[in-house]
Amino acid sequence: MKKLGISLIMLALLANCKSSKVATAAPAAYAPSDEQLKLAINRWPGTASVELVEGNKIYTNECTQCHSNFPVEKFTEKKWLHEIDEMAPKAKLSPEQKTKLTKYLLSMRDTKVNSVQN
Ligand code: HEC
Repeated sequence: MKKLGISLIMLALLANCKSSKVATAAPAAYAPSDEQLKLAINRWPGTASVELVEGNKIYTNECTQCHSNFPVEKFTEKKWLHEIDEMAPKAKLSPEQKTKLTKYLLSMRDTKVNSVQN
């Protein structure tokens, strides 16, 4: 009886440990802000929130195979469009993935850069 009690405590501790590990390993969930979604819809009518979520996934998963992600505000829009054209084949993106990535990056950039100069 005593042994069983101890095993149960050990089990409880183990379970606890496991669940806290899972929690810390999970990446921060991204969801577009209302502002970003509005900006995206302005440019590309009909854009769905899920496209931006997928664009973010493509950026963080497929575009980090050779280098880390660049901050979106680092480059002009023109430079981003050029780089996306150059990099999409390197990351083996489908045309649909490339579109989602473009929508994500440019609308995110719009939320950070308050400038008329692009
Ligand atoms: C197969 C490796 C590889 C993958 C995958 C890749 N890149 Fe690159 N990237 C490079 C290399 C190498 C350079 C630097 C030389 C060049 O510009 O070709 C670079 C440069 C860049 C630059 C220019 C940085 C600067 O300072 O001018 C940007 C922006 C960029 N990558 C974005 C992306 C994006 C977005 C993706 C995903 C679609 C991506 N990369 C996927 C290899 C890769």
